[in-house]
Amino acid sequence: MRPEEAYIRTLPKAELHLHIEGTLEPELAFRLAQKHRVSLPHASVAELRAAYDFTDLQSFLDLYYALADVLRDRQDFHDLALSYLERAHEQGVVHTEIFFDPQTHTARGIEFGTVVEGLHGALLEAERRFGMTHRLIACFLRHLSAQDAERTLDEVLHYREFITAVGLDSSERGHPPAKFAAVFARARRHGLLAVAHAGEEGPPEYIVEALDVLQVQRIDHGVRCDEDPALLQRLARERVTLTVCPLSNVKLCVFEHMTQHNLKRLLAAGLSVTVNSDDPAYFGGYILENYLAVAHALELTREDLASLARNSIAGAFLDEEAKRRWLSAIDACVAGA
Ligand code: HPA
Ligand code: ZN
Repeated sequence: MRPEEAYIRTLPKAELHLHIEGTLEPELAFRLAQKHRVSLPHASVAELRAAYDFTDLQSFLDLYYALADVLRDRQDFHDLALSYLERAHEQGVVHTEIFFDPQTHTARGIEFGTVVEGLHGALLEAERRFGMTHRLIACFLRHLSAQDAERTLDEVLHYREFITAVGLDSSERGHPPAKFAAVFARARRHGLLAVAHAGEEGPPEYIVEALDVLQVQRIDHGVRCDEDPALLQRLARERVTLTVCPLSNVKLCVFEHMTQHNLKRLLAAGLSVTVNSDDPAYFGGYILENYLAVAHALELTREDLASLARNSIAGAFLDEEAKRRWLSAIDACVAGA
């Protein structure tokens, strides 16, 4: 094991940008396809993996939504989440905030409760076995209507005790955050926190809208913020957490090569940048592989890596006491390295 790998593994980290449907590995997809007697668009695991050659966000989403069709019962959602949680634990994730896309499932006739109960069972198991804490974030699909998001919020509210926040994902271009102003306002009135994907493929104005109109606590991706100097300054001043996903950005051609990624420049500009895996089964790695990829391509120092881990704890939906505990653990890890 390279020294950075051991160091990154031992740093306590929170993962703040992880779509549970994006942890569906081809092997599990084939097992579930067989179980439910549904056919997949590819004949074998190898053929399926070979199709993970994306040109942009939409080319990925088309396959991602197609494969999600194998997720049918509570046990499927439990198994999906548990295999992610085991891997995250091995890589030093101590707290995870998981996105799920209710509409991807309810549109196929899968009950909202089937999804939440399956995921929740796995999260409780990870807490018991590993001491790993968690939050669940229900995302609205922005390519669907605001009305559809309102109906989804009704279901979220039925399961309010399991869900901490709402989010916004799917095809960004042409679907500005303001389209969902009313449903986010209603979610906030019910005490839900909020996050939104913005500035991944969409313009920096979408980041401003997510902050000002949706009043989100964090921005998912946000890497296009550096096209607007005033926004960059604001994000630094307000210490807004950006949940950056380096391998995703290269796979979806947001940056041509990891050496061109702006993560290090954003860190140097004082932004609260974090590293996350987004859809690890599709993008070539979990959180550790994401840290390693930027560490090597951008020549990050151990202090940079510790800052990324500290930012992940600071930006998590954890109470102040838990944050203090993890930040001290990071200090101890840095001192002992
Ligand atoms: N962007 C938008 N929607 C998504 C993503 C993403 O990176 N991953 C899963 N749904
Ligand atoms: Zn994402």
